[in-house]
Amino acid sequence: MVRLIRFFAPRGIRVSRAQGQYVWDSEGRRYLDFHTGNGAALLGHLNPYVMRRLREQMEKVTVLPPLYDSEALEEALSALGRILPPHLGNVFFQNSGSEAAELALKLARKRTRRRKAVAFTGSFHGRTFGALSVTFNRAYREGYEPFPFEVEFLPFNSIEDLRRIGEDVAAAIVEPVQGEGGLTPATDEFLRELEGRCREVGAYLIVDEVQSGFGRTGLVWDHLRANVRPDIMVAGKSIGGGFPVSLVAVTDEIASRVEEGEHGSTHGGNPLALAAVTGGVEALLSDDVPSKARAASELLFAGLKEVAAENGDLVRSVKGKGLMLGLELRFNPSQAIKDLQSRGLLSLRAGTTVLRFLPPYVITHGDIEWAVAMTAESLSAFRASRTQGHPAPAQNRP
Ligand SMILES: Cc1ncc(COP(=O)(O)O)c(C=O)c1O
Repeated sequence: MVRLIRFFAPRGIRVSRAQGQYVWDSEGRRYLDFHTGNGAALLGHLNPYVMRRLREQMEKVTVLPPLYDSEALEEALSALGRILPPHLGNVFFQNSGSEAAELALKLARKRTRRRKAVAFTGSFHGRTFGALSVTFNRAYREGYEPFPFEVEFLPFNSIEDLRRIGEDVAAAIVEPVQGEGGLTPATDEFLRELEGRCREVGAYLIVDEVQSGFGRTGLVWDHLRANVRPDIMVAGKSIGGGFPVSLVAVTDEIASRVEEGEHGSTHGGNPLALAAVTGGVEALLSDDVPSKARAASELLFAGLKEVAAENGDLVRSVKGKGLMLGLELRFNPSQAIKDLQSRGLLSLRAGTTVLRFLPPYVITHGDIEWAVAMTAESLSAFRASRTQGHPAPAQNRP
């Protein structure tokens, strides 16, 4: 057996199956999944709409580049027509969020013939060279310079700094809610001013909805709350119920100037991915994911607020929006993540201080109450271990 390259420390559990909001390890222990594959399983594991489409597609054709027309392509385009902002009616499919961000940047670069991009402090857009160039975290960037873009990182949510976007900028790229960077929503005003400044200088506005999109924050696309019209939107993670698929959606102005051969992808738009997108949109609309996400978020947010208020010595604040919520801690979140896992709750970090929860929309009131209780217990155990020098045992698994 060869070895997996471990860019990250393993979590120490061997997952054998998953369903809805739960995963089970090979010992039969059940976990409530607030990690959801870095947020890709917003629709819950094995979502029935997505699974039905995938099963049906597997009996038809599983390899076909979108050079060929197909039923799978027509269905996916028609489904997306029901949810994409109407002015972004042209899509290209990729396999990951990074690739989608990469294509968005390529399109902006070639059309403006400008080499500079603007991104924001705390941003995360992926790991490929172009996407990494607009990703803020120094630890991810180190050793990879020079990047294909000259990038200026402006302070996130600072309206006055938007003046620094000049006529040499090809594109500004922004997350409506920063995920990886620390669960910080962009203000409506910031998004609107950013759009205005991009228009003034002739730069494209790219909105990255890879994490915030597809109903997670209570809207199908989070940027719609600010009433802005990006030139390009990228989406990924949950759009195919977790199947590896992403997309770039652009205006007619951009699509009409695409040149033959300027971009392509072997697996992008694979029929299984397209079927997964069709199933994903069916789930989103039939089950009203945005309003269920909103209701679950309100409950979880209220619970976390109480936990934060009762544990002010360990928690700075509640962060995030919709079903991307978390606690800004006064200690290293990796300790909390490990302890919560031992109690049966899977989570992840955001930035350097935030314990991040990316639950699927199918979580019940009971799940939320239990997760809040586990978070409170975990914090108490951490406090006890700090004063007594040993951690309290984890009990009460789901
Ligand atoms: C906002 C945002 N953009 C892009 C990406 C990159 O997506 P992927 O990991 O699928 O390449 C992520 C992943 O976390 C993300 O959160």
